[in-house]
Amino acid sequence: MINEARKYQAFYTKSTPIVDYMVSKLSLQASDKIFEPCGGDGVFIEAILRENEFAHINVCELNPMSVGILNDKFSDCPNVTIRECDTLLDDELKFNSCFGGTYDKIIANPPYGAWQDYDKRAVLKKMYPELYAKESYGLFLYRCIELLKEDGVLSFIIPDTFLNLHMHKALRNHILTTTQIVELALFSSSFFPGVNFGYANLSIITLRKKNVYKECSQNTFSVINGFSEVEQLNNIDDSNLKKYSFKQEDVLNNPDHAFLISENSNVLKLINQSKFKVGDIADCVTGFYSGNDKRFLQVISPDLKNGKNYDLVNIESINSDYKNNPEILNGIENEQYFLPIVKGGNIKYIKSENWFMDWSKKAVQYYKTDKKARFQNPKYYFRFGIGVPMISSSNITASLIENKLFDQSIVGVFPQDESLTYYLLAFFNSPTCNKLIRTINPSANNPANYIKKIPIIIPEKSVLELITKKTKKIVDEMKTSGSYNANEELMVWEVIKQIYKV
Ligand SMILES: C[S@@+](CC[C@H](N)C(=O)[O-])C[C@H]1O[C@@H](n2cnc3c(N)ncnc32)[C@H](O)[C@@H]1O
Repeated sequence: MINEARKYQAFYTKSTPIVDYMVSKLSLQASDKIFEPCGGDGVFIEAILRENEFAHINVCELNPMSVGILNDKFSDCPNVTIRECDTLLDDELKFNSCFGGTYDKIIANPPYGAWQDYDKRAVLKKMYPELYAKESYGLFLYRCIELLKEDGVLSFIIPDTFLNLHMHKALRNHILTTTQIVELALFSSSFFPGVNFGYANLSIITLRKKNVYKECSQNTFSVINGFSEVEQLNNIDDSNLKKYSFKQEDVLNNPDHAFLISENSNVLKLINQSKFKVGDIADCVTGFYSGNDKRFLQVISPDLKNGKNYDLVNIESINSDYKNNPEILNGIENEQYFLPIVKGGNIKYIKSENWFMDWSKKAVQYYKTDKKARFQNPKYYFRFGIGVPMISSSNITASLIENKLFDQSIVGVFPQDESLTYYLLAFFNSPTCNKLIRTINPSANNPANYIKKIPIIIPEKSVLELITKKTKKIVDEMKTSGSYNANEELMVWEVIKQIYKV
């Protein structure tokens, strides 16, 4: 059984500045026919009625308990109709979507990632074949765009992941080609009472339905961010806010129609026009998972983070000779069958050897056959490359994988020309690279597919050699003393900045 909150994603918009901003974006007219597709306990309805007590509002809500509350609240408003139904599947709404829409205004805080049982997911997949059926908010947005009349306006508060993630490419295309974006406000999810999801921020998107493609592609819209407090939503002219202007045609032409939002025009230029991306010069792959780390993974010291949860490795059982073993992917036969593995964690340049994986023949057989295990991309195991943690709380980081195993929390980057390894290591650890990856994907995640898209410039030989030399020195210092000269790093960053102009 799943709990009610997870099923309905009932996070209500209990924030006056957010509600006021969204309602103001609708520019309500007396004759408007308004739709609230996921009513909750009626915050938006109350706000609209405060502006116009005779507003015509149709409300849908799936949860019978919430429908009960709504019926009680609005029983004396004959202009508010409430239906218990599923907005995504309802036949009447489906019918109206097919015939050009019926609403002048739509306002919503739809469920995010609402749990859908497998049968419903299959139906949704059929109804919205191009969309990512697991993420409910995208389906609500799509459905509601279809329900708008020509020139109808919609305001939605949703996570900002639709702006960049691959899985929302089709949704972006739909927005950019069938609507004119009016405004996009981006702010921290902590502004939303009771919600603070680490994986993304929130956005309020306001858009106008337009059936003529040209009018959509030629439209210019503004993006506002830099909010330090939620009240600034009610004072968009606040000079402390950052405002950008984009033409929809340009966003459509970005790779995967991603909304690339950066103050630095060179960042956008590089992402769009650079001759090479990391994926062109290096293989980027996800690493290994044993399927049962408690059983197979061991640690050098209990004092390491999470170290207490694992058995201590016996030094005698560590194999230091494996690099010369051509059969290593089949496991080790002798008693020294523990091998070092590089795990996640944001440490730059080089990580100490702290974790060891059981690589006996028997264990490897298990990894190759167990359902939970991921014996993926094995041809990259034990090669010389770079590991970029999949999750980086602040800045992206990278450390060497010196012919070791690397786990699935890491993307292994293996340059086709191995002599570029130290240059790439320096680049991944630089603020320049961070600006690029955070524009490509502003969330804290760096899966292989986004790392592949980072623009890369190979500098002339002397510069390449300089960066390589300095980065090798940093790595050596780390190995001998555990730290390095930060000034050297700053110099490398400065050179990289000059190469990229970012
Ligand atoms: C995030 S809450 C927002 C409620 C309200 N609009 C607000 O802003 O306070 C989402 C609401 O959508 C309802 N809901 C979830 N799935 C739905 C569906 N498929 N059709 C209609 N309503 C749904 C939930 O029960 C919940 O009340």
